[in-house]
Amino acid sequence: MNLKQKGLPNHIAIILDGNGRWAKKRNLSRTDGHKAGVDNLETLIDQCKDLNIKYITLYVFSTENWKRPAFEVSNLMLLLNKYLTEKIDDLMNKNIKLNIIGDISGLPNKTRKLIVSAVDKTKNNFKLILTLAINYGGRNEILRAVKNLANDVKNLKLNIDDIDERLFSDYLYTYDIPDPDLLIRTSGEYRLSNFLLWQCAYTEFWYTDVFWPDFGKTDLYNALESFKKRKRRFGKVEDDN
Ligand code: IPE
Ligand code: IPE
Ligand code: MG
Repeated sequence: MNLKQKGLPNHIAIILDGNGRWAKKRNLSRTDGHKAGVDNLETLIDQCKDLNIKYITLYVFSTENWKRPAFEVSNLMLLLNKYLTEKIDDLMNKNIKLNIIGDISGLPNKTRKLIVSAVDKTKNNFKLILTLAINYGGRNEILRAVKNLANDVKNLKLNIDDIDERLFSDYLYTYDIPDPDLLIRTSGEYRLSNFLLWQCAYTEFWYTDVFWPDFGKTDLYNALESFKKRKRRFGKVEDDN
């Protein structure tokens, strides 16, 4: 595979979906599916790093995923703990900075502590910014921003007239990362499921029927080839028109 660097996205966001169905097809448990999903992360991250893609954002656990059976939720948290413990050296060796978006105050103590420590340890890395969306919901993020803005207006730190798109973005979890250029969703679902609602205003979408644990190098390559052919107009007309 030989992808020319030119025209590649700077930021790829992925809705990693289909772990459960992948497992069901193989008569395995949903937890086995999530394990296979986690095991599949490294290839993707390495491939993006090799292509000099600067930002990857992964939807790991949504604010709605608490509605799943308690057993599945606690296994997901255990898997997250395991990832944060076992992968930290790898992130350091590969110069990858870990960033988290979402309400981590709602997570189990142990998970929260591991997150804070991993974020701190990798904070000076810069080759790739890996953002995990954990207990993340786009509506929750926007509401939180509105409340914080309102508070700053109330405390006279801010004038209502100062509020524009730029300033509003500064109140989001994603204040220090650019909007995604490309959003990938696996498993044949065609919806946003409350992911990056504000940030995806001009993001290009790419879907595949492949379940996340089977998503491989060729799939990413196909997504990137498709992205390179897109004409992003951002509301304007093309130069040659
Ligand atoms: C995605 O896989 C992982 C999480 C949402 C945590 P799913 O668990 O949603 O898998 P399906 O959609 O049930 O197949
Ligand atoms: C979206 O997948 C959330 C994550 C991948 C973490 P879901 O499987 O939860 O989404 P729905 O319920 O099918 O929309
Ligand atoms: Mg799903």
